[in-house]
Amino acid sequence: MKINGVPTRTIRPATDDATVEIIDQTRLPHVLAFEALSTLEQAAAAIKEMKVRGAPLIGATAAYGMALALASDASDARIADAYKVLLATRPTAVNLRWALDEMRSVLAPVPVGERRAAAWKKAAAICDEDVALNASIGDHGLGIVKALWDKRRAAGAIRVNILTHCNAGWLATVDWGTATAPIYKAHDAGIPVHVWADETRPRNQGASLTARELNWHGVPHTVIADNAGGHLMQHGLVDMCIVGTDRTTAAGDVANKIGTYLKALAAKDNGVPFYVALPGPTIDWTITDGLEQIPIEERSADEVIFISGRTADGRIESVRLTPDGSPAANPAFDVTPARLVTGLITERGVSPASPEGLLSLYPERRAQAAQ
Ligand code: MRU
Repeated sequence: MKINGVPTRTIRPATDDATVEIIDQTRLPHVLAFEALSTLEQAAAAIKEMKVRGAPLIGATAAYGMALALASDASDARIADAYKVLLATRPTAVNLRWALDEMRSVLAPVPVGERRAAAWKKAAAICDEDVALNASIGDHGLGIVKALWDKRRAAGAIRVNILTHCNAGWLATVDWGTATAPIYKAHDAGIPVHVWADETRPRNQGASLTARELNWHGVPHTVIADNAGGHLMQHGLVDMCIVGTDRTTAAGDVANKIGTYLKALAAKDNGVPFYVALPGPTIDWTITDGLEQIPIEERSADEVIFISGRTADGRIESVRLTPDGSPAANPAFDVTPARLVTGLITERGVSPASPEGLLSLYPERRAQAAQ
C-alpha cells in the first residue's frame, strides 16, 4: 500500500537490528505515528494494547518480539520464556502461535551465539512471506470480483459493491491485507469497486482503520453502522461480502471480529456471496469445531462503555456512552459456521469451506486430518 505515493509496510525493522518500527494503530485515523519497539515487553504490550492488531500482523510482531527478546540472552530458557510471554498476549488469532512455532523451530538447532541474527532473519522472512501470501490472495480474489463485475455490468450496474467487516486490510497484515487484497487489485485493475465498511463496534476498526486505508489508496467507500448491512443487502446494494479471519478450523468454520456472524446470516438470507480471505497460517489444522474449540477473547467492558474521537478543535477525547452503573460485556470475536461461507480465498486458490475443500488446496495436511 502506498501512503502519499510511498510504498509502506505496517511493520519494519530499523537498520540497527535492535529495534522494529510499528504504526501505533490506536492513534489512527487521526494521527499516523510510527513507534519503535526495542524489548520483548514492548512488543508484547503493543500486541496486547492493540497498537498492532489483525491476525497476520500480530504474528509478524510476535516474531520480531522473539528477536528482540534475544538481545542479550539467546538461551533455550530465554526462548521458552519469550514464547510464553508473547503467546499470552491475545488468544484468538492462531497466526500468533504459528509465528512463534516458526521462530522456535528455526532457532532451536542454531548455536546460541548465532541465534540473535537468525531470529532477525526469520522474522523478516515471516513478514516477506505474509506480503507474498496476501498478494496471491488478491490475485485469486480478483478473479471473483471481476466475474461478478462482468455480470453486474451486463445488468446495467455502474459499480460492484463489496461489504467488509472490521479491518482485514493492509493495517491487519504486513501489506495488502487479506479481505482488502482483492479489493485493491480490482481497484488498481480499473474495476469500479465501492466498499461498504462496517464501523465495527466497539473498537471501530472499520470506521477508523479500513476507512483510513481505503481513503489513502483512493478506493471509493462508505462507512456504515454495523446494523445497516442487512438492510443494504435486502435492497440489492451489496454484491458480495469479503471478510478476514483470525482462526479457521480444518472444517472451514471461521472466527472473526464480533458481528461477522450476523453479516453472514444476512448474506445467506439475501443470496449475497459471503467470502472469507485468509492465508495458510490462519488455518488451525488441530481443530474442526469452531464454536467449541476456538478461544474467544473477552475484552474490557470499557471498550463498550466509552468511545473516543477527535473534537472540532483537534483534541482526542474519550466520552462515556452508557449510564453509570450499567454493566457491559465485550466478546471480541464470533464464529461463522462453514455452512454460511460461500468460499475461502487463500493464497493457493478458492475452496469451499469444508474439510475436503481445504484439503484440496493443502494436500500435505491430509495425513494430519486422518488422525
Ligand atoms: O481485534 P482485531 O482488530 O485484532 O481483530 C481483527 C480481525 O478480526 C480481522 O478481521 C482478522 O484478524 C483478519 S486480519 C487479516
